[in-house]
Amino acid sequence: MSSLEEIENIQTLFSYQHSFITFKIISTASELGVFDLLRESGEPLSSTTLAECLSTSPIGMQRLLEACVGLKLLTLESKDGKDLYQNTDFTNLYLVKSSPKTQYYSMKFYSEVVYPSMQNLPDAVRKGKNQIPSIFGSASNKTFEVIYRSNEKLQTFSNFMNELWPVVGREVLSAFDLSQFPLICDLGGNFGGLAKELISLYPKCIVTIFDLPEVVEASKNHCLSSEETRITFHAGDFFKDPFPEADLYILARILHDWSDERCSQLLHKVYQACKPGGGVLIVEILLDEDRRGPLAAHIYSLLMLLYTEGKERSTTEFNVLLHKAGFQEVELKKGNFFHIILGRK
Ligand SMILES: C[S@@+](CC[C@H](N)C(=O)[O-])C[C@H]1O[C@@H](n2cnc3c(N)ncnc32)[C@H](O)[C@@H]1O
Repeated sequence: MSSLEEIENIQTLFSYQHSFITFKIISTASELGVFDLLRESGEPLSSTTLAECLSTSPIGMQRLLEACVGLKLLTLESKDGKDLYQNTDFTNLYLVKSSPKTQYYSMKFYSEVVYPSMQNLPDAVRKGKNQIPSIFGSASNKTFEVIYRSNEKLQTFSNFMNELWPVVGREVLSAFDLSQFPLICDLGGNFGGLAKELISLYPKCIVTIFDLPEVVEASKNHCLSSEETRITFHAGDFFKDPFPEADLYILARILHDWSDERCSQLLHKVYQACKPGGGVLIVEILLDEDRRGPLAAHIYSLLMLLYTEGKERSTTEFNVLLHKAGFQEVELKKGNFFHIILGRK
């Protein structure tokens, strides 16, 4: 091996090693309110001002800000002998809490829940089943029941789930022409992030969100605008309760939470509820057929091992589940983030 190769190898290894530290730098700045304050102030601020306003040590704040400059989340300029920091456009768009495209709750959920629970990964791999971390309470496979015992965690998780849709929802929902399905039911649709994108893309469609009673109750704090009267909520358990009538049922990021048996049960129920010509729209990150990628699918599959009884699946695996449930006509579209599968009755 040449010395250049050796250097590249070590750099690759260190970049893997440093990736969780990089994440913690961003989430620390986010949690302390650095990005929000810089946005609100509307002008560059010194590290001393930021430290005073956010009640941190001056030295700690300066180190954090410098690291954020290194990550290109902040810019640094010197004016009248003073170092001044401000957000980059990227930060204003994705990290400032009030931005319409914010991923603030994604950072918060990963920091408060995912990050500490990664300690349990070796154990989950050894045992081959989910290890709900202590932050959720005791080990149990009833992930959602356990998360939802705390209203604060329910809010953080739900905000995290919903905030992705303003960024990728349009791509997902325009993969197929859904205007042929005027009545849509989003199973496990949470606070309605995807439903809001649906009604803005398809001006005639009406959406029912079907989710657990705790979620429907909590969603009441999230004011819907006047246009959003086309969205209603229906509380229930999708394994036990009848589904509201619909032309199309959406399962977005649902099936990866469940075992093959539970997915079959759910898809069979959806098939029974569908009218002829009706269908199911599945939104998931798919594993390549040779199972070598994409890395995002491998990462989520390990997270599913930690928290749920589910896993990420390949196109063939979804086709098998859909055909078993009765859906014969199945089409797949590949998005930049998610794959979209439409099964018709
Ligand atoms: C991973 S989240 C996906 C949320 C949403 N579909 C999205 O992609 O943003 C799973 C959702 O399924 C809901 N859920 C879990 N078990 C359920 C059940 N038995 N009946 C109804 N909803 C359920 C959860 O409350 C949560 O909103």
